Amino acid sequence: MPVYTLPELPYDYSALAPVISPEIIELHHDKHHAAYVKGANDTLEQLAEARDKESWGSINGLEKNLAFHLSGHILHSIYWQNMTGPKDGGGEPLATDGVGALADAIKESFGSFAGFKAQLTKAAATTQGSGWGVLAYEPLSGRLIVEQVYDHQGNVGQGATPILVFDAWEHAFYLQYKNQKVDFIDAMWAVVNWQDVARRYEAAASRANTLLLAP
Ligand SMILES: [Fe+2]
Repeated sequence: MPVYTLPELPYDYSALAPVISPEIIELHHDKHHAAYVKGANDTLEQLAEARDKESWGSINGLEKNLAFHLSGHILHSIYWQNMTGPKDGGGEPLATDGVGALADAIKESFGSFAGFKAQLTKAAATTQGSGWGVLAYEPLSGRLIVEQVYDHQGNVGQGATPILVFDAWEHAFYLQYKNQKVDFIDAMWAVVNWQDVARRYEAAASRANTLLLAP
């Protein structure tokens, strides 16, 4: 039995058009995300084999593969849920839409929604090579931070929970936006599902801080 499984998309392939084409969504979910799920499961099996044989020659590569594939699986699982069709998505989180706690946290952490939007846009659009722009809840401070993630797993603060993720890998946009990554990230804001982001914020903020437990 595999440990990890590919989640179903919460909408059909064409739901995010014209911001993201059906062809991109199908390939991205059915091929790329599926490969991370398989990679995470395969790596766990290889690690079990290494333990059985007490054969540790590949341990560095296996641990790196586990971090890469597992993080790819987690980020993509959040990514699909973070988006909704342009009719329902976009804009900014407002108290009148029932997402006031998230709106307040963004203002408190970044000064304004505009400042936050500019920072996340820049972080996502300027990734070098492959990466993500991520809004995360950081439990030590109880604040939100923006992270610029390398690949799927690098350049992150330990323990922060991603609540809004922008995939800035070329596979996320190249078929439609070609080399215009900035245009893709700008367009992404129109399909953000703020209800989902707010749900993730509230779940993360309500968890006890388990990182620095007093003795
Ligand atoms: Fe991706």
